[in-house]
Amino acid sequence: MITRDDFKALLANLGITKNTSRRQVREMLTNKGYSEPEYRVHDGASKLCIVPKHADFVIKWSTTCLTVGDYDEAYDEVLIYQKAIKAGLEMFFPKTEVLCIVNGVIFVVQEKIDFSVLNTPSSKENKYEYKTRTASRVIIDKMDTCFCSIARGRDLDETWASMAIVVYGKKKCKALCKFVIENGINDLHRSNIGYLKDKPIILDFSGYHRN
Ligand SMILES: Nc1ncnc2c1ncn2[C@@H]1O[C@H](COP(=O)(O)OP(=O)(O)O)[C@@H](O)[C@H]1O
Ligand SMILES: [Mg+2]
Repeated sequence: MITRDDFKALLANLGITKNTSRRQVREMLTNKGYSEPEYRVHDGASKLCIVPKHADFVIKWSTTCLTVGDYDEAYDEVLIYQKAIKAGLEMFFPKTEVLCIVNGVIFVVQEKIDFSVLNTPSSKENKYEYKTRTASRVIIDKMDTCFCSIARGRDLDETWASMAIVVYGKKKCKALCKFVIENGINDLHRSNIGYLKDKPIILDFSGYHRN
């Protein structure tokens, strides 16, 4: 099983810069013997993410951003995670820390989640729906209204919101709503929220602030 320290050593001489593409990262990894499917490289609108199959963490970093200068979404997650601890809301976020900085790239190590809402296996979906059958409609709607007020035109996934209410209670959910707004976490679509050990979690919480 690969460790965080193994990754640190690997990243020190892999040669990744902020401009390296997902395909290039895959090639670099393959050349060092770290290939798919054991080492997958995922991306979204602003970050690249190496997901090792046999580890409990992922490595992510921000790619070049031409419109917002030095804004670094991966590092932003480190800062937001620290704020979440202070607010007593760390259960909604995977543990996130800086691993190392190479070529100006801030590599962040983050607890790996089990699956996003988008990729929830149907057996789990059924289980979660059963578990949340008593979740209060009023609270779900309140959460949805709050998340929508900042979201970029998307609804909050109802099963995920219900799981948050059933697992953590309405007080924490209310605090999460406030936290999400205060920290500009405006991109909570179905690929950015998910589950870890059958508990709801947010895996991409930098928000989207590029043009
Ligand atoms: N903690 C994590 N555990 C598992 N996969 C992750 C994690 N964080 C990111 N990923 C994967 O990497 C992709 C890109 O990461 P994300 O933080 O969503 O970046 P972006 O801001 O570019 O959308 C995600 O859609 C997901 O597939
Ligand atoms: Mg994302």
